[in-house]
Amino acid sequence: MSADEAVQSTNDDASECKRSAVRLGYWQDDYVQILVRGSDRKPPEINRGYYARTEGVNLFIKKFLKLAGEKCQIISFGAGFDTLYWRLKHAQCKFDNFTEIDFPSVTARKCYAIKRSKPLLEGLGPDCEVRLSSTELHGGNYHLVGADLRNVNEVASKMRESEVNFQLPTLFLAECVLVYIESISVANLLRWIISRFPTAMFLNYEQVNMCDRFGEIMLENLRARGCPLSGVDACLSLETQMKRFLSTDWDGAKAWTMVDIYNAIDPAERQRIEKIELLDEQELLVQLFQHYCICVGWKGQLFSSITLSEYDD
Ligand SMILES: C[S@@+](CC[C@H](N)C(=O)[O-])C[C@H]1O[C@@H](n2cnc3c(N)ncnc32)[C@H](O)[C@@H]1O
Repeated sequence: MSADEAVQSTNDDASECKRSAVRLGYWQDDYVQILVRGSDRKPPEINRGYYARTEGVNLFIKKFLKLAGEKCQIISFGAGFDTLYWRLKHAQCKFDNFTEIDFPSVTARKCYAIKRSKPLLEGLGPDCEVRLSSTELHGGNYHLVGADLRNVNEVASKMRESEVNFQLPTLFLAECVLVYIESISVANLLRWIISRFPTAMFLNYEQVNMCDRFGEIMLENLRARGCPLSGVDACLSLETQMKRFLSTDWDGAKAWTMVDIYNAIDPAERQRIEKIELLDEQELLVQLFQHYCICVGWKGQLFSSITLSEYDD
């Protein structure tokens, strides 16, 4: 397996973990089982970790949509089999354009699954015309395109084909993606974004505190699977996560470990999910939360007030 293939296969793990947690009732997602067929049950710490990740990402997406208004866009980098587009549509959220970018071998599998699924096709909108090739799909305001994020020209051209409007407030989302990409390529991508989008927010979820023993073991496990961790320099601390944005001239950045994010979740909701499975090793979950983070970068004043507080504002 090549290094790129090993990175692409991390999507299968992420999707299976999401499916495991959804099946147990951690959160509702009527679409994940269409894209992921497996029925493995993951350990409780993994299910809870994915719950916190999904809640944390949802929290900041809600904040983005509220600040940006309806004329906005979401661009998901390394989207894999994520179902966010359908979940947002189901929740009646409004946006002008939603574009997903991943390697063509990953988008091909997602295209195939979408075109065979009535609920996924219907989710694109009533009577909408769907244009598709073996690796790309455009339907309504949803666009799924294949590109290598290390190649900014290719990314730019795919955004144009996806009718991305560079003038609209735009959210860029990356969940466990940038860690696999060389820092120089991530910096090029981040610089290109702010050169083209006057108003942008970047929501990044990935590893942090990778220089302690627990972090080293996490990295060893990923390396053992053949995944190059070319972007790990930015995952050493919350400061290095924010530096990614500040050193590429974004206007600001903030970052929180998943300990903070989990504690910000509505207590009633936390109580609900804590009853789903017994956790033998509370300490392991805390360690996992200490080694993942959400970092938000912004360009333009619209998003400069973004905070973690007031969970449901
Ligand atoms: C761990 S998976 C995460 C998938 C999804 N974001 C999620 O959270 O469920 C990482 C994804 O990033 C994609 N990816 C990594 N490097 C990429 C690159 N250079 N270009 C395009 N996609 C990339 C992989 O193919 C994979 O689908």
